Amino acid sequence: MATTTPAALPAQVSPPEFALSEHAPHEIGGVECWAFPVLPGEDGAVVLGPGADEAGGTLGLDLLEVLESARATGRTGELTVVPVAAGDVRLVLLVGLGDQSVTDFRRAGATLARAVKDRASVATSICAIAPDGALEAFVVGAMLGSFGFHWRSEGPAEQPVRQVVVAGVQDADSRRPELERALALGGAGWRSRMLATVPSNVKNPAWMAEQAVAVADAAGLEVTVWDEQRLAEDSFGGILAVGAASATPPRLVRLDYRPAKSSGKVPHVVLVGKGITFDTGGLDIKPAQGMSTMKRDMTGGAVVIATMAALAELDCPVRVTGLVPLAENAVGGNAMRPGDVIVHHGGRTSEVNNTDAEGRLVLADAMAYAVSELKPDVLVDVATLTGAMKVALGQRTGGFFANDDALAEAISEAGKTAGEPVWRMPLVADYEEKLASKVADADNAAGGAGAITAALFLQHFAGDVPWAHLDVASVGDSPEERYEWTTGPSGFGARLLLTWLAGPGSVAGLR
Ligand code: BES
Ligand code: ZN
Ligand code: ZN
Repeated sequence: MATTTPAALPAQVSPPEFALSEHAPHEIGGVECWAFPVLPGEDGAVVLGPGADEAGGTLGLDLLEVLESARATGRTGELTVVPVAAGDVRLVLLVGLGDQSVTDFRRAGATLARAVKDRASVATSICAIAPDGALEAFVVGAMLGSFGFHWRSEGPAEQPVRQVVVAGVQDADSRRPELERALALGGAGWRSRMLATVPSNVKNPAWMAEQAVAVADAAGLEVTVWDEQRLAEDSFGGILAVGAASATPPRLVRLDYRPAKSSGKVPHVVLVGKGITFDTGGLDIKPAQGMSTMKRDMTGGAVVIATMAALAELDCPVRVTGLVPLAENAVGGNAMRPGDVIVHHGGRTSEVNNTDAEGRLVLADAMAYAVSELKPDVLVDVATLTGAMKVALGQRTGGFFANDDALAEAISEAGKTAGEPVWRMPLVADYEEKLASKVADADNAAGGAGAITAALFLQHFAGDVPWAHLDVASVGDSPEERYEWTTGPSGFGARLLLTWLAGPGSVAGLR
């Protein structure tokens, strides 16, 4: 079928650059903005963080009085902006740090980053009082709060601040690895958010596969791409059926990472990400409102690609394979129909009772391939799978299921640490009967508790492998600008997976 060649995306903005310094902000020459933390004190008073008094002295300003005038409380995300004109300095930003938890630092980073958009540089002493893990969180928050995507003829509407100097940190050289780790985590969040934001007139399955190949080349991963002929030869019936009506045929991508310093056998984790480059619903077409955000239905795939891209930077000690089944769920004469039966990779069959329940059909193929051909120690899939999850958990917490308690604990902890919280949902065995089909091994659209029955459908493809299923439909999109979340696709999940796979004691939950 004839199709127009997608236009190329214009150049996008880049995250800020970060530097560490032992000096206080006012001792660092040439910066445009200074930022200091504000902590809630006794009896409604506030306390200013390190370097603020000296900076105020240089500027001839009592910053504490300024905070009093502004009725500042020091709560997280509170921002007092003081325009100044003193040498190179144009703005002083006083940023609330609340209880000074790791989350507060992430949020302060994002708050600051938004306030210094289009500025050349900011030096901040916020991390001078950072507890363990908080410098990482601050940098990740500052990166993601700077995120932007544009397709404007005259360039982006705004630019992230070019440089952030993390000032007042003792023994700055020794903190360099922590900064590098933060840049890898934040960069993965940025990449998955960017991929999820790209419009689907560019982002078809082949385009996504090209992104994966570029990532593999840059990160030294092995990469394999199945085109539609190879998918047919290898019996990927689910991916082919879902992608059948699209003018841009489906693909399957496999990325392989092996740790550099591994000796002997290391655990093997397989990640599978739903890569629906646009979900119209198929013949069971979605109403306009439900379709409007469906360019991001490949968020799971983006999360897997972005995670794979960062494993080497984080020195991940386990072997990881990423699988991304890519298809556009379109409408057309070749579309799969309600009542069709699909034969998945490995032979299990599904009756298509709703063409809009397409994600599980492509995941099933990839999971079956993982279990039979890769024999992983752990299998994790990530997918914007069900609207039901959004109803259950709202848009600030993701949901997940697991057939293994240790794995569930590790996933849940990683989500908390990374700032991508997920709540465990039950694989209610009693609902299994809802999956019954009159003709096939399962119905793809069992009703009832939709997120649970979708997970039960997938569970059959995990075999005996410890498996977790992350349903990020709820959090794949942020309805508002909120701390590190920018309005629109979120790319939720890459920070969680990397924190799990490359964290200290990363083999938690892996046997
Ligand atoms: N991509 C959607 C799920 C979704 C909905 C993601 C809203 C993000 C926001 C998925 O393919 C879908 O349409 N699922 C159906 C399944 C149903 C037909 C069994 C759903 O959840 O309604
Ligand atoms: Zn759908
Ligand atoms: Zn979908």
